[in-house]
Amino acid sequence: MSTYTQDGKKLIYAQIDVPIVLPDPKDMEDFHFTHGVVNKDYEDIIQNRHDYTVACSRYNVDDWRILPTAKYMDKSGWKEDSSEYKLNWNPDFAKRFPTLVDAILAAPFKEIAFAGWMRQINPYMLHQDSYDQQQPTEPRRYNILLTEPEHNTFYMEDGHGGEVRPDSSKDYPMFVFNNSDVMHGTKPITKFKLMMGIVGIVDEERHLKLLQRSLEKFPEKAIWI
Ligand SMILES: [Fe+2]
Repeated sequence: MSTYTQDGKKLIYAQIDVPIVLPDPKDMEDFHFTHGVVNKDYEDIIQNRHDYTVACSRYNVDDWRILPTAKYMDKSGWKEDSSEYKLNWNPDFAKRFPTLVDAILAAPFKEIAFAGWMRQINPYMLHQDSYDQQQPTEPRRYNILLTEPEHNTFYMEDGHGGEVRPDSSKDYPMFVFNNSDVMHGTKPITKFKLMMGIVGIVDEERHLKLLQRSLEKFPEKAIWI
């Protein structure tokens, strides 16, 4: 595993240079509660942290209200190459939120295992997301904040025993964070909050190019430790 490093400091967060026109929050909220999944994965049953709406998946989905990654119990397999990759879209999602389809496809992945909304319910203590056996350069976890930046709850360790809350943007809401050198979590919500998670196999070449371009464009948003 390697981390993007500059002047002896490790990059733990960057705002990504992909402009996104976010849908109306009320429209997303309505969609979430009518098209969201009805099952959860194990941790979410225990801790009630999130529920989900599925945008797309490489798994064959016959019911878009069933979380495919929970059905297949396959978090470790998210980052394994599949021989016949095909990305399946939730048709209702794709029709209603075309700008989010474009945003997902702009993220630097060779294969997307799953992309979808996480509605935060409870806070989530500091943790690491699942291991990536492909070991792309950190920061490697791509997310999109879909609701108001002033109600963001995401925070990270600052590498010195404290914590840092990244400053997110409404026009460039995609960001990438480091899952290996520091842990991350969420504070209690202050309003309806949706985050898009995108998981799969990172395309290292596209990832590094996008990261470089994003750091040049938004140097003040990057967090180094
Ligand atoms: Fe996480």
